[in-house]
Amino acid sequence: MCGIIGYIGKKNVVSVLMEGLKKLEYRGYDSAGIAVVNRNRVKIRRVKGKISLLEKSLEEKPIEGSYGVAHTRWATHGRPCEENAHPHRDCTGTLVVVHNGIIENYLPLKEKLKAEGHKFRTETDTEVIAHLVEKYFNSSLEKAVQKAIRKLEGAYAIAVLSTKDSGKIVAAKVGPPAAIGLGEKEFFISSDINPLLSHTQKIVFLEDEEMAVFNENEVKFIDYKGNSLEKRVDHISWSPLMIEKGGFKHFMLKEIFEQPQVVRDTLNGRMSLDSGKVCMDEIGLSPQVLRKIKRVVIIACGTSYHAGLVGKYFIETLAQIPVDIEFASEYRYRDFILDKETLAVVISQSGETADSLAALRSVKEKKALSLAVCNVVNSSIARETEGVLYTHAGPEIGVAATKTFSAQMAALALLALYLAQIKGKINKKESLSYIQALQRIPHKMEKILNQAESIEKLALDFVSFSHFLYLGRWVNFPIALEGALKLKEISYIHAEGYPGGEMKHGPIALIDEKMPTMVIVPKDRVYEKMLSNISEIKTRVGYILAVAFENDKEIHGRVDKVIPIPSANPLFTPFLTALPLQLFAYYIASIRGADVDQPRNLAKSVTVE
Ligand code: M6R
Repeated sequence: MCGIIGYIGKKNVVSVLMEGLKKLEYRGYDSAGIAVVNRNRVKIRRVKGKISLLEKSLEEKPIEGSYGVAHTRWATHGRPCEENAHPHRDCTGTLVVVHNGIIENYLPLKEKLKAEGHKFRTETDTEVIAHLVEKYFNSSLEKAVQKAIRKLEGAYAIAVLSTKDSGKIVAAKVGPPAAIGLGEKEFFISSDINPLLSHTQKIVFLEDEEMAVFNENEVKFIDYKGNSLEKRVDHISWSPLMIEKGGFKHFMLKEIFEQPQVVRDTLNGRMSLDSGKVCMDEIGLSPQVLRKIKRVVIIACGTSYHAGLVGKYFIETLAQIPVDIEFASEYRYRDFILDKETLAVVISQSGETADSLAALRSVKEKKALSLAVCNVVNSSIARETEGVLYTHAGPEIGVAATKTFSAQMAALALLALYLAQIKGKINKKESLSYIQALQRIPHKMEKILNQAESIEKLALDFVSFSHFLYLGRWVNFPIALEGALKLKEISYIHAEGYPGGEMKHGPIALIDEKMPTMVIVPKDRVYEKMLSNISEIKTRVGYILAVAFENDKEIHGRVDKVIPIPSANPLFTPFLTALPLQLFAYYIASIRGADVDQPRNLAKSVTVE
């Protein structure tokens, strides 16, 4: 939800900011803008639309400066248009602000500021920040920002500059992330680390109610009262190459193909074929504490929720602990019941999703034990939980989550096995056989990826359909949901995921020749039941595609098209069934000419409620 970046240093400021913006574009892309300071005057350029349009505008009419800030927007308050694009100015135009988040009390603040004579130019919530800082400005920008932010309610990560206190950028945050990059005589503020990696790997993450004030020579960290803070410097090992497309047409396709490696990386070093043990020393929760757990609640949004749903089957089957799975956005408003014997597992790729973070905070108020499953190291959710189990997926740039989904499932399989072991629910032989089954998964995933071309050909026949149904049962019911989500979010085709057994309770009414169904039907405990569901659809002249084991001869006579996958331990088939559905959605969207990596109306990291 919006990306902000700021830079002071010797490099070409416009280039650094524009390159940075491109790496933040996944966060929002309905308008973009940049402000730089040149001979103590602020130069601003903003456009409606993507960053490429801003780039074009800057090529046609360049601006230069010695430091500056920039923004890519996902509109919340005020429609996407040039005037509402950031950076926003005060009345004098000497002070600008870029903002990620929502100021909830902006209307009363705006009314008050207007009554005091401030002139507003936009429909945004952000503009009040510029006018508030203007109101409180005396001689020090950071002091004015401190006073202004005390008046704000809501969530924000901001970067502010003013020519009246020149050569300085002030950043502050409550809610959305703000990473400060520390270079050699150069400093950055950014919504995430991706734009920073090609300049520095030394990063400081601001906590809520902390500020960074930097000029070309130094950075200081202070709290909202102005007290100095000692901040830990993190050395981030992700390489800049990880955020390049590497010859693929889209990031999404590259990330789909990275999945075997990502699953290996997430499993590696955490399980042993010698001892049959899963090792979770790193997560920060001891076996003694986890052994007492009687219930697990998994909380997440979107694709992470679907991974959590797979995790529920893993944990219930292996560790025999009851698991509830909850949408973070719903859970936080419920009168939910938790106790000290419940482990709350918050799953979030970004670790910044506002709903998941808020749900985590409510869970902590009820004193439940919390564990994050996160991909971004040191993200807000990872920092606020008692334990963290990191997925090793590397940066995911495509807005549609793919490789992080597989990595989350791998982490959850490990967690399930670990809980099963420490609670004595499986013996060494069983444990070894599950570990072996997991170890074989990446190679099987590679075999599926080798069929990408035939899935592309198959997709050609379905590009003009308007509706799709996805059916799965048991551990592949979540994959039906995820397959449908992938199709709708990137191709804009309406798709619904359903548990096969629920068909007859309603959705079967939709079946006709215009509504193809994708069935996920590996040979598992619900195979026969799925065959019955398939017959029910066929009787009603529905077209059926099936994801099935390659050695399943029976399925061919029953459906119209089969996407074969290698056979595997039934419990772990979601690792395999998800891949063809991701590829199918990708190729349909790509053939339709959709903007696969940046689908309309979406943003990668949803840092507003
Ligand atoms: O960063 P998170 O995992 O918390 O994000 C949650 C959802 O916004 C996310 O999974 C979203 O549904 C996917 N990008 C969709 O592909």
